[in-house]
Amino acid sequence: MAAAPVALILGSGPRVGAVVAQKFASSGYKVAVASRKAAGGKTAEGFLSIKADLSQPETIPALFDAVKAEFKSPPTVVVYNAAALTPPPGEGAPLSIPTESFTSDLNINTVSPYVAAQQAIAGWETLPKGTKTAFIYTGNKLNLVVMPGPVLTNLGVGKAASAYWIGVADAAYSARGYRFFYADERAENGNSKGSNIDAPAHADFYAQLANHEGDIPWLATFVAGKGYVKFD
Ligand SMILES: NC(=O)c1ccc[n+]([C@@H]2O[C@H](COP(=O)([O-])OP(=O)(O)OC[C@H]3O[C@@H](n4cnc5c(N)ncnc54)[C@H](OP(=O)(O)O)[C@@H]3O)[C@@H](O)[C@H]2O)c1
Repeated sequence: MAAAPVALILGSGPRVGAVVAQKFASSGYKVAVASRKAAGGKTAEGFLSIKADLSQPETIPALFDAVKAEFKSPPTVVVYNAAALTPPPGEGAPLSIPTESFTSDLNINTVSPYVAAQQAIAGWETLPKGTKTAFIYTGNKLNLVVMPGPVLTNLGVGKAASAYWIGVADAAYSARGYRFFYADERAENGNSKGSNIDAPAHADFYAQLANHEGDIPWLATFVAGKGYVKFD
């Protein structure tokens, strides 16, 4: 019998992360969740809980080592859900963000997921051929739209940069069965969801992506209740 698949959710909080974790667990996955407030050990649901600060990309390999040590398998699915932004202190001044904050947010939004994707691939190469693997990044519309106000500057920089390497990675590795997705929930009309995102819709869609169901491209825009919808 094949070993249970393993899901690692990096940046797992009360909204998207918690519901995605439950969904994978109920689909037969062993689950690990990581965040700054993680208690460590096992959660009430039996998930491996790992304390992690994703502003520190050099700490990412140890998170994967912890998952392998616990489950005797690397994660087959990695969800990168953390995000960060620092509003510019100067009104109407996107370039007033301190370099330190710009760098830290870029680490969380782009560098750490990039390192996590490197770790994911290294683990997938050790798995039996045909194992369904996926790296799923929780995105938004900022990879495509430059907002006029400066508040979202760091978030947009990070999402746009990550969308680029995710698209390149999917093109390069999908023939080997390694899929990379930039998942972006949209409103029915294609508008951004803003802060109004639907966690169960993320969970259902991410489970579909993890199973390689449908012919979904790396730019995985989706609508609650519908799944993948091509907008752009
Ligand atoms: N499609 C859209 O239009 C749209 C709209 C809104 C949001 N989003 C995306 O949805 C995602 C977040 O959703 P959510 O807030 O509902 O998720 P969530 O799973 O409730 O929370 C994400 C968790 O990430 C963790 N995190 C943040 N910074 C971290 C760090 N430096 N190191 C480790 N963990 C960190 C936080 O936990 P700790 O405090 O414990 O670290 C936070 O609770 C983001 O990627 C965001 O950009 C998309």
